[in-house]
Amino acid sequence: MRTLNVTATRDAAWLARYVATPDKVLASGDPIAARLFEKYKKVPMPNLSLGADDVKALLSYIDQQSRATAAPVKGASAAR
Ligand code: HEM
Repeated sequence: MRTLNVTATRDAAWLARYVATPDKVLASGDPIAARLFEKYKKVPMPNLSLGADDVKALLSYIDQQSRATAAPVKGASAAR
């Protein structure tokens, strides 16, 4: 799945854990991480050593951007 709307489709606690430590979530045998790993040709997402504040800011940003894309301003061009 793409990152757009991920804050609406995944559990918030899972997302925070995954973005912070994708390597550990995958290694733990997490079924969602395992499915993504298979889907994306066994390319693992690297652990970016993000702090808790970074993770929060990123997920909040993704959430905002997803909402903006899902509900474009009325009258704005539909072209993307
Ligand atoms: C701040 C930067 C990043 C954020 C916020 C982020 C976020 C995410 C999220 C939320 C998922 C899970 C998507 C889902 O649940 O469907 C994911 C998966 C993934 N990400 Fe990232 N990501 C970041 C950086 C990166 C980088 C730098 C790479 C590779 C160079 C990467 C590679 C992947 C891959 C390959 C997956 C699929 C999982 C897998 O194949 O094991 N990500 N990412």
